[in-house]
Amino acid sequence: MSKLYITGQKRLSGAVTLQGAKNSALPVLAATVLAGGESVLYRCPQLSDVEASLRILRWLGCRAQRSGDTVLVQNDGIARHDVPDALMRQTRGSIAFLGAVLARQGRVRLSLPGGCAIGQRPIDLHLKALRCLGATVRERHGWLDCRAPHGLHGADVTLPFPSVGATESVLLAACTAEGTTTLTNAAREPEIADLAVFLNGCGARIQGAGDSVLQIEGVPQLTGCAHALIPDRIVAATIIACAAVTGSEITLQGVIHRHLAGVLPAFEDAGCVFTAHENELRVTAPPRLRPMKIVRTMPYPGFPTDAQAPLLAAATVADGTTVFMENIFENRYRHTAELARMGADIKTEGKFAVVEGVSRLYGATVEATDLRGAAALVVAGLCAEGKTEVSGVQFLERGYEAPEQVLSSLGADIKKV
Ligand code: EPZ
Repeated sequence: MSKLYITGQKRLSGAVTLQGAKNSALPVLAATVLAGGESVLYRCPQLSDVEASLRILRWLGCRAQRSGDTVLVQNDGIARHDVPDALMRQTRGSIAFLGAVLARQGRVRLSLPGGCAIGQRPIDLHLKALRCLGATVRERHGWLDCRAPHGLHGADVTLPFPSVGATESVLLAACTAEGTTTLTNAAREPEIADLAVFLNGCGARIQGAGDSVLQIEGVPQLTGCAHALIPDRIVAATIIACAAVTGSEITLQGVIHRHLAGVLPAFEDAGCVFTAHENELRVTAPPRLRPMKIVRTMPYPGFPTDAQAPLLAAATVADGTTVFMENIFENRYRHTAELARMGADIKTEGKFAVVEGVSRLYGATVEATDLRGAAALVVAGLCAEGKTEVSGVQFLERGYEAPEQVLSSLGADIKKV
Protein backbone atom coordinates (compact mmCIF):
# COMPACT_ATOMS: atom_id res chain seq x y z
CA MET A 1 0.00 0.00 0.00
CA SER A 2 1.32 3.46 -0.85
CA LYS A 3 2.10 6.12 1.73
CA LEU A 4 2.34 9.89 1.70
CA TYR A 5 5.44 11.62 3.10
CA ILE A 6 4.84 15.25 4.04
CA THR A 7 7.32 17.84 5.33
CA GLY A 8 5.19 20.48 7.01
CA GLN A 9 5.25 24.25 7.50
CA LYS A 10 5.62 25.08 3.81
CA ARG A 11 3.58 28.09 2.70
CA LEU A 12 1.24 27.32 -0.22
CA SER A 13 0.50 29.59 -3.18
CA GLY A 14 -1.00 29.52 -6.65
CA ALA A 15 -4.27 28.24 -8.07
CA VAL A 16 -5.96 24.88 -8.48
CA THR A 17 -8.95 23.82 -10.57
CA LEU A 18 -11.54 21.81 -8.68
CA GLN A 19 -12.24 18.22 -9.74
CA GLY A 20 -15.79 17.08 -10.49
CA ALA A 21 -17.87 16.01 -7.50
CA LYS A 22 -17.43 12.35 -6.46
CA ASN A 23 -20.87 12.30 -4.82
CA SER A 24 -22.42 13.53 -8.04
CA ALA A 25 -20.48 11.17 -10.33
CA LEU A 26 -21.55 8.02 -8.45
CA PRO A 27 -25.35 8.45 -8.64
CA VAL A 28 -25.14 9.89 -12.19
CA LEU A 29 -23.16 6.85 -13.38
CA ALA A 30 -25.81 4.59 -11.82
CA ALA A 31 -28.47 6.65 -13.62
CA THR A 32 -26.94 5.75 -17.02
CA VAL A 33 -28.40 2.26 -16.41
CA LEU A 34 -31.81 3.87 -16.91
CA ALA A 35 -30.89 5.85 -20.02
CA GLY A 36 -30.64 3.93 -23.30
CA GLY A 37 -27.99 4.92 -25.81
CA GLU A 38 -24.99 7.10 -25.13
CA SER A 39 -24.29 9.30 -22.10
CA VAL A 40 -21.22 11.53 -21.89
CA LEU A 41 -20.05 12.82 -18.50
CA TYR A 42 -17.62 15.73 -18.41
CA ARG A 43 -15.49 16.59 -15.38
CA CYS A 44 -15.85 13.01 -14.13
CA PRO A 45 -13.10 12.67 -11.52
CA GLN A 46 -10.50 9.91 -11.79
CA LEU A 47 -11.11 8.17 -8.45
CA SER A 48 -11.16 4.57 -7.28
CA ASP A 49 -14.83 4.95 -6.26
CA VAL A 50 -15.70 6.10 -9.78
CA GLU A 51 -13.72 3.24 -11.36
CA ALA A 52 -15.69 0.83 -9.15
CA SER A 53 -18.94 2.22 -10.57
CA LEU A 54 -17.63 1.85 -14.12
CA ARG A 55 -16.85 -1.82 -13.36
CA ILE A 56 -20.43 -2.33 -12.18
CA LEU A 57 -21.77 -0.71 -15.36
CA ARG A 58 -19.65 -3.04 -17.50
CA TRP A 59 -20.78 -6.06 -15.46
CA LEU A 60 -24.41 -5.06 -16.09
CA GLY A 61 -23.81 -4.90 -19.83
CA CYS A 62 -22.93 -1.29 -20.60
CA ARG A 63 -19.78 -0.14 -22.38
CA ALA A 64 -17.97 2.44 -20.26
CA GLN A 65 -14.70 4.09 -21.17
CA ARG A 66 -12.78 7.10 -20.00
CA SER A 67 -10.72 9.64 -21.88
CA GLY A 68 -9.17 12.06 -19.37
CA ASP A 69 -11.99 13.41 -17.23
CA THR A 70 -14.64 12.55 -19.82
CA VAL A 71 -16.50 9.26 -19.40
CA LEU A 72 -18.62 7.71 -22.15
CA VAL A 73 -21.30 5.14 -21.26
CA GLN A 74 -23.02 3.20 -24.05
CA ASN A 75 -26.13 1.43 -22.80
CA ASP A 76 -27.63 -0.83 -25.47
CA GLY A 77 -29.51 -2.87 -22.90
CA ILE A 78 -28.83 -4.22 -19.46
CA ALA A 79 -28.08 -7.94 -19.44
CA ARG A 80 -28.26 -8.58 -15.69
CA HIS A 81 -30.08 -7.53 -12.55
CA ASP A 82 -27.51 -8.66 -10.00
CA VAL A 83 -24.37 -6.92 -8.75
CA PRO A 84 -21.74 -9.27 -7.31
CA ASP A 85 -20.52 -8.81 -3.76
CA ALA A 86 -16.96 -8.14 -4.86
CA LEU A 87 -18.13 -5.14 -6.88
CA MET A 88 -20.64 -3.90 -4.31
CA ARG A 89 -18.11 -3.81 -1.52
CA GLN A 90 -15.70 -1.52 -3.30
CA THR A 91 -17.66 1.64 -2.67
CA ARG A 92 -20.67 2.87 -0.70
CA GLY A 93 -21.78 4.79 -3.75
CA SER A 94 -22.74 1.46 -5.37
CA ILE A 95 -26.01 1.59 -3.44
CA ALA A 96 -27.20 4.01 -6.15
CA PHE A 97 -27.51 0.98 -8.47
CA LEU A 98 -30.32 -0.35 -6.24
CA GLY A 99 -32.98 2.04 -7.52
CA ALA A 100 -31.60 2.29 -11.06
CA VAL A 101 -31.41 -1.47 -11.79
CA LEU A 102 -34.75 -2.13 -10.08
CA ALA A 103 -36.42 0.50 -12.27
CA ARG A 104 -34.77 -0.74 -15.44
CA GLN A 105 -34.99 -4.52 -14.92
CA GLY A 106 -37.97 -4.87 -12.56
CA ARG A 107 -35.63 -6.73 -10.24
CA VAL A 108 -32.28 -6.15 -8.52
CA ARG A 109 -30.14 -8.43 -6.41
CA LEU A 110 -27.13 -7.04 -4.63
CA SER A 111 -25.20 -7.59 -1.47
CA LEU A 112 -25.90 -5.19 1.35
CA PRO A 113 -23.19 -2.53 1.22
CA GLY A 114 -21.08 -3.01 4.32
CA GLY A 115 -20.86 -0.42 7.06
CA CYS A 116 -17.64 1.49 7.17
CA ALA A 117 -15.38 3.36 9.56
CA ILE A 118 -17.81 6.24 9.97
CA GLY A 119 -20.86 4.27 10.96
CA GLN A 120 -23.37 1.49 10.32
CA ARG A 121 -24.70 3.21 7.18
CA PRO A 122 -28.05 1.33 7.10
CA ILE A 123 -30.30 1.55 4.04
CA ASP A 124 -33.68 1.16 5.77
CA LEU A 125 -34.88 4.52 4.42
CA HIS A 126 -34.02 3.46 0.86
CA LEU A 127 -35.95 0.19 1.24
CA LYS A 128 -38.99 1.79 2.91
CA ALA A 129 -39.20 4.32 0.07
CA LEU A 130 -38.87 1.63 -2.64
CA ARG A 131 -41.67 -0.38 -1.00
CA CYS A 132 -43.89 2.74 -1.25
CA LEU A 133 -43.17 2.72 -5.01
CA GLY A 134 -44.34 -0.90 -5.31
CA ALA A 135 -41.19 -2.94 -4.75
CA THR A 136 -41.02 -6.10 -2.66
CA VAL A 137 -37.82 -6.41 -0.67
CA ARG A 138 -36.21 -9.57 0.69
CA GLU A 139 -33.09 -9.44 2.82
CA ARG A 140 -31.30 -12.66 3.61
CA HIS A 141 -27.71 -13.53 4.55
CA GLY A 142 -26.44 -10.06 3.61
CA TRP A 143 -28.15 -10.15 0.22
CA LEU A 144 -30.95 -7.91 -0.94
CA ASP A 145 -33.47 -9.12 -3.52
CA CYS A 146 -35.91 -6.42 -4.66
CA ARG A 147 -38.60 -7.03 -7.26
CA ALA A 148 -41.28 -4.97 -8.96
CA PRO A 149 -42.95 -7.62 -11.18
CA HIS A 150 -45.74 -5.23 -12.13
CA GLY A 151 -43.40 -2.27 -12.48
CA LEU A 152 -42.99 0.62 -10.05
CA HIS A 153 -45.77 3.16 -9.50
CA GLY A 154 -45.77 6.75 -8.29
CA ALA A 155 -46.46 7.42 -4.61
CA ASP A 156 -46.27 10.10 -1.93
CA VAL A 157 -43.09 9.35 0.02
CA THR A 158 -41.87 11.19 3.10
CA LEU A 159 -38.37 10.65 4.49
CA PRO A 160 -37.99 10.88 8.29
CA PHE A 161 -34.49 12.24 7.65
CA PRO A 162 -33.27 14.04 4.50
CA SER A 163 -31.01 11.13 3.54
CA VAL A 164 -28.90 11.85 0.44
CA GLY A 165 -28.78 8.22 -0.66
CA ALA A 166 -32.46 7.54 -0.03
CA THR A 167 -33.38 10.68 -2.00
CA GLU A 168 -31.25 9.42 -4.90
CA SER A 169 -32.86 5.96 -4.71
CA VAL A 170 -36.32 7.52 -4.99
CA LEU A 171 -35.27 9.78 -7.89
CA LEU A 172 -33.78 6.82 -9.79
CA ALA A 173 -36.72 4.50 -9.11
CA ALA A 174 -39.51 7.04 -9.71
CA CYS A 175 -38.48 8.73 -12.94
CA THR A 176 -39.74 5.83 -15.13
CA ALA A 177 -42.47 4.65 -12.72
CA GLU A 178 -46.16 4.70 -13.68
CA GLY A 179 -47.57 8.00 -12.41
CA THR A 180 -46.27 10.80 -10.25
CA THR A 181 -44.19 10.64 -7.09
CA THR A 182 -43.93 13.37 -4.48
CA LEU A 183 -40.94 13.10 -2.18
CA THR A 184 -41.16 15.16 1.01
CA ASN A 185 -38.18 15.97 3.26
CA ALA A 186 -35.81 15.20 0.40
CA ALA A 187 -32.11 15.91 0.78
CA ARG A 188 -31.16 19.31 -0.70
CA GLU A 189 -27.46 18.65 -1.39
CA PRO A 190 -26.19 20.10 -4.72
CA GLU A 191 -25.36 16.55 -5.86
CA ILE A 192 -29.11 15.77 -5.78
CA ALA A 193 -29.83 18.72 -8.05
CA ASP A 194 -26.98 17.60 -10.33
CA LEU A 195 -28.48 14.11 -10.60
CA ALA A 196 -31.87 15.65 -11.42
CA VAL A 197 -30.31 17.84 -14.14
CA PHE A 198 -28.76 14.72 -15.71
CA LEU A 199 -32.02 12.73 -15.49
CA ASN A 200 -34.08 15.62 -16.91
CA GLY A 201 -31.49 15.85 -19.71
CA CYS A 202 -32.34 12.21 -20.44
CA GLY A 203 -36.05 13.03 -20.61
CA ALA A 204 -37.17 12.68 -16.99
CA ARG A 205 -39.64 15.14 -15.49
CA ILE A 206 -38.29 16.09 -12.07
CA GLN A 207 -39.22 19.35 -10.37
CA GLY A 208 -38.00 20.89 -7.13
CA ALA A 209 -34.53 19.33 -6.96
CA GLY A 210 -32.50 21.25 -4.39
CA ASP A 211 -35.65 21.91 -2.35
CA SER A 212 -37.11 19.59 0.26
CA VAL A 213 -40.13 18.57 -1.84
CA LEU A 214 -39.49 16.84 -5.17
CA GLN A 215 -42.12 16.04 -7.79
CA ILE A 216 -41.26 13.25 -10.24
CA GLU A 217 -43.66 12.56 -13.12
CA GLY A 218 -42.91 9.10 -14.52
CA VAL A 219 -42.01 8.86 -18.23
CA PRO A 220 -41.87 5.67 -20.34
CA GLN A 221 -38.15 5.75 -21.09
CA LEU A 222 -34.97 7.80 -20.84
CA THR A 223 -32.30 8.44 -23.47
CA GLY A 224 -28.69 9.21 -22.66
CA CYS A 225 -27.38 12.78 -22.73
CA ALA A 226 -24.20 14.80 -22.18
CA HIS A 227 -23.66 16.33 -18.76
CA ALA A 228 -20.89 18.24 -16.97
CA LEU A 229 -20.73 17.30 -13.30
CA ILE A 230 -20.66 20.05 -10.66
CA PRO A 231 -17.34 20.78 -8.93
CA ASP A 232 -16.55 18.96 -5.70
CA ARG A 233 -17.43 21.24 -2.77
CA ILE A 234 -15.82 18.92 -0.22
CA VAL A 235 -12.51 18.92 -2.09
CA ALA A 236 -12.83 22.73 -2.11
CA ALA A 237 -13.34 22.77 1.67
CA THR A 238 -10.36 20.47 2.11
CA ILE A 239 -8.04 22.66 0.03
CA ILE A 240 -9.22 25.71 1.98
CA ALA A 241 -8.30 23.85 5.19
CA CYS A 242 -4.80 23.23 3.73
CA ALA A 243 -4.40 26.96 3.06
CA ALA A 244 -5.83 27.84 6.48
CA VAL A 245 -3.27 25.81 8.44
CA THR A 246 -0.27 27.09 6.45
CA GLY A 247 -1.11 30.84 6.54
CA SER A 248 -1.37 30.75 2.74
CA GLU A 249 -3.18 32.61 0.01
CA ILE A 250 -4.45 30.37 -2.80
CA THR A 251 -7.11 30.52 -5.51
CA LEU A 252 -9.70 27.84 -6.26
CA GLN A 253 -10.91 27.77 -9.87
CA GLY A 254 -14.17 26.29 -11.13
CA VAL A 255 -16.06 27.02 -7.91
CA ILE A 256 -19.84 27.31 -7.46
CA HIS A 257 -19.91 29.75 -4.57
CA ARG A 258 -23.39 28.96 -3.25
CA HIS A 259 -22.33 25.32 -2.71
CA LEU A 260 -19.82 26.56 -0.12
CA ALA A 261 -22.25 28.81 1.77
CA GLY A 262 -22.36 26.35 4.68
CA VAL A 263 -18.59 25.98 4.84
CA LEU A 264 -17.07 29.45 4.47
CA PRO A 265 -18.48 31.03 7.70
CA ALA A 266 -16.52 28.55 9.84
CA PHE A 267 -13.27 29.47 8.08
CA GLU A 268 -14.16 33.18 8.30
CA ASP A 269 -14.65 32.78 12.07
CA ALA A 270 -11.11 31.37 12.08
CA GLY A 271 -9.80 34.48 10.37
CA CYS A 272 -9.70 33.43 6.72
CA VAL A 273 -10.69 36.08 4.18
CA PHE A 274 -12.46 35.06 0.95
CA THR A 275 -12.60 37.00 -2.30
CA ALA A 276 -15.05 35.73 -4.91
CA HIS A 277 -14.55 36.55 -8.57
CA GLU A 278 -16.71 34.85 -11.26
CA ASN A 279 -16.02 31.11 -10.77
CA GLU A 280 -12.89 31.70 -8.70
CA LEU A 281 -12.49 31.92 -4.94
CA ARG A 282 -9.37 33.30 -3.32
CA VAL A 283 -8.68 32.42 0.31
CA THR A 284 -6.20 34.37 2.44
CA ALA A 285 -5.39 32.73 5.76
CA PRO A 286 -4.10 34.55 8.87
CA PRO A 287 -0.69 33.67 10.37
CA ARG A 288 -2.56 31.87 13.18
CA LEU A 289 -6.18 30.67 13.09
CA ARG A 290 -8.74 31.83 15.62
CA PRO A 291 -10.95 29.11 17.17
CA MET A 292 -14.34 28.56 15.48
CA LYS A 293 -16.32 28.34 18.76
CA ILE A 294 -18.83 25.64 17.73
CA VAL A 295 -19.25 23.74 14.44
CA ARG A 296 -22.45 21.69 13.98
CA THR A 297 -22.65 19.32 10.97
CA MET A 298 -26.09 19.49 9.35
CA PRO A 299 -27.84 18.44 6.16
CA TYR A 300 -27.31 20.90 3.30
CA PRO A 301 -27.24 23.91 3.34
CA GLY A 302 -25.71 23.54 6.81
CA PHE A 303 -22.06 22.70 7.49
CA PRO A 304 -21.36 19.40 5.63
CA THR A 305 -20.32 16.36 7.66
CA ASP A 306 -17.72 15.52 5.01
CA ALA A 307 -15.85 18.75 5.79
CA GLN A 308 -15.78 18.07 9.55
CA ALA A 309 -12.54 16.08 9.58
CA PRO A 310 -10.45 18.54 7.51
CA LEU A 311 -11.81 21.51 9.50
CA LEU A 312 -11.17 19.72 12.80
CA ALA A 313 -7.56 19.21 11.74
CA ALA A 314 -7.31 22.98 11.19
CA ALA A 315 -8.90 23.65 14.59
CA THR A 316 -6.13 21.67 16.33
CA VAL A 317 -3.69 24.57 15.74
CA ALA A 318 -6.13 27.44 16.31
CA ASP A 319 -5.56 29.88 19.15
CA GLY A 320 -8.32 28.60 21.45
CA THR A 321 -11.09 26.02 21.81
CA THR A 322 -13.44 24.75 19.09
CA VAL A 323 -16.36 22.39 19.81
CA PHE A 324 -17.57 20.09 17.03
CA MET A 325 -21.01 18.48 17.02
CA GLU A 326 -21.24 15.62 14.48
CA ASN A 327 -24.98 15.22 13.90
CA ILE A 328 -24.96 13.06 10.77
CA PHE A 329 -22.77 9.96 11.37
CA GLU A 330 -22.32 8.15 14.66
CA ASN A 331 -18.63 7.34 14.41
CA ARG A 332 -16.87 10.07 12.51
CA TYR A 333 -14.03 11.00 14.88
CA ARG A 334 -11.64 8.16 14.07
CA HIS A 335 -9.07 10.69 12.83
CA THR A 336 -8.78 12.35 16.26
CA ALA A 337 -6.68 9.50 17.72
CA GLU A 338 -4.18 9.88 14.88
CA LEU A 339 -4.15 13.68 15.21
CA ALA A 340 -3.38 13.22 18.92
CA ARG A 341 -0.22 11.33 17.91
CA MET A 342 0.85 14.57 16.22
CA GLY A 343 0.30 16.56 19.43
CA ALA A 344 -3.31 17.62 18.99
CA ASP A 345 -5.42 18.06 22.15
CA ILE A 346 -8.89 16.64 21.38
CA LYS A 347 -11.50 15.10 23.66
CA THR A 348 -14.40 13.23 22.05
CA GLU A 349 -17.63 12.30 23.81
CA GLY A 350 -20.40 10.82 21.60
CA LYS A 351 -21.24 13.36 18.93
CA PHE A 352 -19.02 16.03 20.50
CA ALA A 353 -15.33 16.70 19.99
CA VAL A 354 -13.64 19.44 22.03
CA VAL A 355 -10.49 20.69 20.33
CA GLU A 356 -8.02 22.76 22.40
CA GLY A 357 -5.77 24.54 19.93
CA VAL A 358 -2.03 23.93 20.43
CA SER A 359 0.82 26.12 19.23
CA ARG A 360 2.04 23.47 16.80
CA LEU A 361 1.72 19.87 15.70
CA TYR A 362 4.67 17.52 15.24
CA GLY A 363 5.21 15.16 12.34
CA ALA A 364 4.44 11.50 13.12
CA THR A 365 3.55 8.19 11.50
CA VAL A 366 -0.23 8.11 11.23
CA GLU A 367 -2.80 5.82 9.64
CA ALA A 368 -6.00 6.74 7.80
CA THR A 369 -9.14 4.65 8.31
CA ASP A 370 -11.64 6.52 6.15
CA LEU A 371 -11.75 8.98 3.29
CA ARG A 372 -12.21 12.32 5.06
CA GLY A 373 -10.15 11.21 8.05
CA ALA A 374 -7.29 10.66 5.61
CA ALA A 375 -7.76 14.23 4.36
CA ALA A 376 -7.57 15.49 7.95
CA LEU A 377 -4.20 13.78 8.43
CA VAL A 378 -2.85 15.44 5.28
CA VAL A 379 -4.07 18.86 6.49
CA ALA A 380 -2.31 18.24 9.82
CA GLY A 381 0.87 17.03 8.09
CA LEU A 382 1.06 20.25 6.06
CA CYS A 383 1.31 22.40 9.20
CA ALA A 384 3.22 20.01 11.48
CA GLU A 385 6.87 20.58 12.32
CA GLY A 386 8.96 17.86 10.65
CA LYS A 387 7.92 14.86 8.62
CA THR A 388 4.58 13.06 8.64
CA GLU A 389 4.05 9.62 7.11
CA VAL A 390 0.42 8.90 6.23
CA SER A 391 -0.58 5.30 5.43
CA GLY A 392 -4.01 4.24 4.18
CA VAL A 393 -3.64 6.47 1.12
CA GLN A 394 -6.12 4.22 -0.70
CA PHE A 395 -8.83 5.83 1.46
CA LEU A 396 -7.75 9.31 0.33
CA GLU A 397 -7.77 8.31 -3.34
CA ARG A 398 -11.40 7.26 -3.10
CA GLY A 399 -12.36 10.92 -3.13
CA TYR A 400 -9.36 13.06 -4.05
CA GLU A 401 -7.90 13.04 -7.55
CA ALA A 402 -4.06 12.93 -7.45
CA PRO A 403 -3.92 14.71 -4.05
CA GLU A 404 -0.12 14.76 -3.85
CA GLN A 405 0.10 16.38 -7.31
CA VAL A 406 -2.52 19.00 -6.47
CA LEU A 407 -0.77 19.92 -3.21
CA SER A 408 2.72 19.84 -4.76
CA SER A 409 1.50 22.25 -7.44
CA LEU A 410 0.61 24.63 -4.59
CA GLY A 411 4.10 24.33 -3.11
CA ALA A 412 3.61 21.59 -0.51
CA ASP A 413 6.47 19.18 0.16
CA ILE A 414 4.52 15.93 -0.29
CA LYS A 415 5.47 12.66 -2.00
CA LYS A 416 3.61 9.43 -2.60
CA VAL A 417 5.72 6.27 -2.25
C1 EPZ B 1 -23.87 10.54 1.21
O1 EPZ B 1 -23.85 9.36 2.00
C2 EPZ B 1 -22.41 10.78 0.83
N1 EPZ B 1 -21.94 9.65 0.03
C3 EPZ B 1 -21.56 10.94 2.08
O2 EPZ B 1 -20.24 11.25 1.66
C4 EPZ B 1 -22.10 12.11 2.89
O3 EPZ B 1 -21.37 12.20 4.10
C5 EPZ B 1 -23.59 11.89 3.20
O4 EPZ B 1 -24.31 11.69 1.97
C6 EPZ B 1 -24.21 13.06 3.93
O5 EPZ B 1 -24.05 14.22 3.16
C7 EPZ B 1 -22.25 9.59 -1.28
O6 EPZ B 1 -22.93 10.44 -1.82
C8 EPZ B 1 -21.70 8.42 -2.05
P1 EPZ B 1 -27.20 9.81 4.13
P2 EPZ B 1 -25.25 8.65 2.40
O7 EPZ B 1 -28.10 8.76 3.57
O8 EPZ B 1 -26.18 8.71 1.26
C9 EPZ B 1 -28.40 7.50 8.11
C10 EPZ B 1 -17.93 11.04 1.60
O9 EPZ B 1 -17.05 11.21 2.46
N2 EPZ B 1 -29.22 6.66 7.21
O10 EPZ B 1 -27.58 11.25 4.01
O11 EPZ B 1 -24.95 7.33 3.01
C11 EPZ B 1 -26.92 7.27 7.86
O12 EPZ B 1 -26.47 6.15 8.59
C12 EPZ B 1 -19.19 10.31 1.97
O13 EPZ B 1 -17.86 11.45 0.40
C13 EPZ B 1 -30.08 5.74 7.78
O14 EPZ B 1 -30.17 5.60 9.00
O15 EPZ B 1 -25.73 9.65 3.55
C14 EPZ B 1 -26.30 8.54 8.34
O16 EPZ B 1 -26.16 8.49 9.75
C15 EPZ B 1 -19.20 9.86 3.42
N3 EPZ B 1 -30.83 4.95 6.96
C16 EPZ B 1 -27.35 9.60 7.97
O17 EPZ B 1 -28.59 8.89 7.79
C17 EPZ B 1 -30.76 5.06 5.59
O18 EPZ B 1 -31.49 4.32 4.89
C18 EPZ B 1 -27.02 10.34 6.69
O19 EPZ B 1 -26.93 9.40 5.67
C19 EPZ B 1 -29.87 6.01 5.04
C20 EPZ B 1 -29.12 6.80 5.87
